[in-house]
Amino acid sequence: KNISIVGVPLDLGADRRGVDMGPSAIRYAGVVARLEQMGLNIQDRGDISVTRPHRFTETENHKYLDEVVEANTKLAEVVSEIMQEGRFPLVLGGDHSIALGTVAGVARHKKNLGVIWFDAHGDLNTGETSPSGNIHGMPLAASLGFGHERLVNIGGFAPKLQPENVVIIGARDLDRGERELIKRIGLKVFTMHEIDKLGMARVMEEAIAHVSRQTDGVHLSLDLDGLDPHDAPGVGTPVIGGISYREGHLALEMLAEADVLCSAEFVEVNPILDRENATARVAVALMSSAFGDKLL
Ligand code: ARG
Ligand code: MN
Ligand code: MN
Ligand code: MN
Repeated sequence: KNISIVGVPLDLGADRRGVDMGPSAIRYAGVVARLEQMGLNIQDRGDISVTRPHRFTETENHKYLDEVVEANTKLAEVVSEIMQEGRFPLVLGGDHSIALGTVAGVARHKKNLGVIWFDAHGDLNTGETSPSGNIHGMPLAASLGFGHERLVNIGGFAPKLQPENVVIIGARDLDRGERELIKRIGLKVFTMHEIDKLGMARVMEEAIAHVSRQTDGVHLSLDLDGLDPHDAPGVGTPVIGGISYREGHLALEMLAEADVLCSAEFVEVNPILDRENATARVAVALMSSAFGDKLL
């Protein structure tokens, strides 16, 4: 596999500063060396340039809308270029609003894109339902065509995704409006309840079958807060009771075995809130599993 890494030092989609340093933290944790050791061809394209705000965009229910749209428009272009070159985009966040740009860039090349959204949250809010106004709580909704038209239309087309091609795994903090949207559009969600009850192996079998049934590629959008804060403490919105380190590896090993991924992003790593860069190191370890690293 030929992989192109791109970092997005964006924290404006989140409440808390610091997640803009995620790409540096993940590089410091040795992502390039680890993947090269596996025999993969790695190109690091560096970071997207992000405009720092000189004012607070008081679009209250969409904080920093201009800056988030600008960064994601650039990201969509770069990701699309990488896909055009026949390479695999590996995007390093940054807050989860960067999925707007990644998914836009990938979906330009995949008419029926599947998505695995690994997260404690749904990221299915719109400006109307968001309790925070933070755009990192909205990217999955916008990619499905719901929400502010500037978010929905990033990359110049919409929607990027059909609900039947998407699964959420690890959810345990869903806002009321998100639950309503899930029911309305019939989105498949494996909450922590299903993971506890069925086990991660069975959940992944079902999830992989669901997203690869009628798709031409699968994007992995992995929010580190999907993991338990015990294993991944360096995130801005931790939620107790998450996916364990081992369950995370199993999930991504099964994804690698299924060989369905066309793109991936690892987001919400915040080194300011972390302990000795543990969360970035977990991100790198999980990436190696997603790209087929074996224990034996
Ligand atoms: N649901 C909450 C909100 O809309 C939290 C979202 C957290 N999202 C994330 N990507 N960490 O504000
Ligand atoms: Mn989350
Ligand atoms: Mn909440
Ligand atoms: Mn998220």
